[in-house]
Formats: sequence, structure tokens, C-alpha cells
Amino acid sequence: MSQHSGSNDNGAGRVLDTEAVRAGVRELRLGSPLLYFPSINSTNTYAASLARGGATEGTLLVSDDQTAGRGRIGRIWKSLPGQQLSFSLVLRPAFPPHFLVMASALAVAEAITAITSLETGIKWPNDVQVDGYKICGILIETSPGYAILGIGINVNGSLRDDPELAARAITLADAAGHDISREDLLIAILCRLDTLYSSLTSGGDPAWQGLRSDWRARLVTLGRRITLLQGEHTVTGHAEDVDANGALLLRLDGGVLQTVTWGDVQS
Ligand code: BTN
Repeated sequence: MSQHSGSNDNGAGRVLDTEAVRAGVRELRLGSPLLYFPSINSTNTYAASLARGGATEGTLLVSDDQTAGRGRIGRIWKSLPGQQLSFSLVLRPAFPPHFLVMASALAVAEAITAITSLETGIKWPNDVQVDGYKICGILIETSPGYAILGIGINVNGSLRDDPELAARAITLADAAGHDISREDLLIAILCRLDTLYSSLTSGGDPAWQGLRSDWRARLVTLGRRITLLQGEHTVTGHAEDVDANGALLLRLDGGVLQTVTWGDVQS
């Protein structure tokens, strides 16, 4: 992987070296064209408008600062200018979108371990964690004809001055004890995702179930007693397993096995 001087400062962090990323993803199906935004409201929002306008599959939007970053279930995604990875891909998947949930979380988890040597786990369905702290959030928005895959990773800097966030999230730099190259990490994620995406596109059910099995093996949620937040509604139970589509099989306290397709696992 390349070395980056990263000498340009954009305030709190650094300007992403987009040329290094372009060079690293040149051979891939995902990651070109690369559209860079020093600041944008949300890469997912803009990617969706490009997708509606016919943007090619694999178009990558990456920003050093989102002013209105969005998370799952209506949450906001806090920006750490120049220190995170915040990007979205325009995709047109020819396979069921829940496999994109699994592929993206797995690609991020594997790439983080490859670049930082940190152990990673996946909190159902697709939060990537280090030591139980959230490192990465993934927002997938599907519409007829396209899907937008948005990934936010807390790479450099620190969350320590935000105690509420620091109670459940961490940056890779704080976890590893040193800064991490955002360029190398982005390239590593796109390489893994590209491979998984190709296999999901052409491999059919065997590839889908192989991916599910790899994703399941990284789930830290299984075997635990959890509380799941679904809007105003809360359910508590034992996270037994996931089904063939990645839905969570939750054994409720009354003994009923509930199939859960969305929500936020609290513990
Ligand atoms: C979550 O954990 O709730 C998902 C967070 C997803 C954040 C990423 S950052 C890039 C892309 N643009 C957005 O507005 N959101 C996603």
C-alpha cells in the first residue's frame, strides 16, 4: 500500500489524498468515478440524486465533512472533519439487498483488521465494533433500480470530548494508539467489497449463504441477552441466531421466537 504525506490540513483533520485512492481502486468495479467533496450535506443524499440521474454502478462519493450526515433509524451521524471516512457507493445490486448489509459490514470488519491489526466484531445487523465500541456505521438506502451504500468510520482524532458518544463509540486511532491512513483503509474496504459484490452478483445461493456464514461468524450479538430498540418500542430476549436472510432470531422472555428484521441492539 502507498504512503501518504497527508500534509494538507482542512481544519481539524487532513484532506483525503484522492489520487492515492483512485490509483488503489483503478482495477475494481466499485470506486470509479470517485467524486470528492470537501464538504457536503450527506454523501448518501447526493448519491441518491446521482443514481436517479443514471450514475453508473460503482460511483463513489467521498467527503471530508458532512454537515447533515444521516444514520440508521433516523439518527444523525456526527462529523469529525478530515478524520473520518465518510463515503457512499451507487450500486445496482442483482441480489437481495440484505446480502449487501452483510457484505458491507464484513468488508469493513476485515479491512480494519488487515490495516490496524485490531480485532473487529459486528453488532447485528451491521455496526462494526472494536472492543465493544462502535467504529463504523452503515446506512443502506434502497429504491427501485438502485441502492446507496453509505459507510462512516471513526478513523483518526478522538471522541473523548463527547462523553455521550465516547460511552459507546471510539476512533481507530484511540483504539490502536496511533493514526491510521484513511486512504489505505478506504482502498482495503473497496477491494474486499468489490470481491464480495462480484461473488454475490454471479455466485447465486451458494455465494449468498457462504457470505452469510462469514458474517454470522463475526456477529458479537449472538448468544447474548439483548434489548432491541424499535422506535418507541423495546423488546428484550436472548439473541439465538440469524436466519437465512440475516434476520435476528430473538427468544423473548415468554419463550416465543421472534424474527427481527430491523432495530438497534442496545446491549
Ligand atoms: C448508523 O450507524 O446509524 C449509520 C451511519 C452511516 C453514516 C454514513 S457516513 C457516509 C454516508 N452518508 C450519510 O449521510 N450517512 C452515511
